[in-house]
Amino acid sequence: IDTKKFQSDLLGWYDNEKRDLPWRRERDPYRIWVSEIMLQQTKVDTVIPYYERFLTKFPTLDALAEADEEEVLKVWEGLGYYSRARNLHQAVKEVRDEYGGVVPSTEKEIATLKGVGPYTAGAVLSIAYDVPAPAVDGNVMRVLSRIFSIYDDIAKPASRKKFEAITRDLLPEERAGDYTQALMELGAVVCVLRSPACLLCPVAEHCSARKEGVQEFLPVKAKK
Ligand code: ADE
Repeated sequence: IDTKKFQSDLLGWYDNEKRDLPWRRERDPYRIWVSEIMLQQTKVDTVIPYYERFLTKFPTLDALAEADEEEVLKVWEGLGYYSRARNLHQAVKEVRDEYGGVVPSTEKEIATLKGVGPYTAGAVLSIAYDVPAPAVDGNVMRVLSRIFSIYDDIAKPASRKKFEAITRDLLPEERAGDYTQALMELGAVVCVLRSPACLLCPVAEHCSARKEGVQEFLPVKAKK
């Protein structure tokens, strides 16, 4: 595909069509981090009120670092997957103690923090710092499996690596954060699993699956 054209088609669409979500009004790496941890296993609509409450209670990284775990878990209550909250709390203390309270801005450093895997690292680096690091979640794998007609089983760890490499190659040097969120947005509202809205898709002209009529058969996800 024509990478530059793909990037500008996707970013142009995002500029006009993006949903107004609370973390899209933020650049504070701590706040972006909180949003991405919450969004990993929980839907956007559910996350919003928890996100607002959490940041009202812990408006800064230092505020969270100073809190007792019990308080943190109490605000998290109802969101589930409580290890997310415990890991975030611990990682924030690491940032306070080892990085002077500034969330690290390199892939190498941020990946050492508790609970920060490749997805969270890429999301925070790109969205908060505009560092062109790939953030590959299920949405992004679905979109790219269709754009390039990739039949690898997305449940396999090796496939994720492949999608990370592809995402990295496609990242623009500027606006990495908007680009990352644009890919996620496309997967969430247009390039959905069942009956994708190809007629509304800003990058349909770049899409191999669409050309071949196989979009409904991708991505491949083998049953366990
Ligand atoms: N899912 C994961 N990260 C997201 C984001 N930044 N915006 C919307 N949905 C998301």
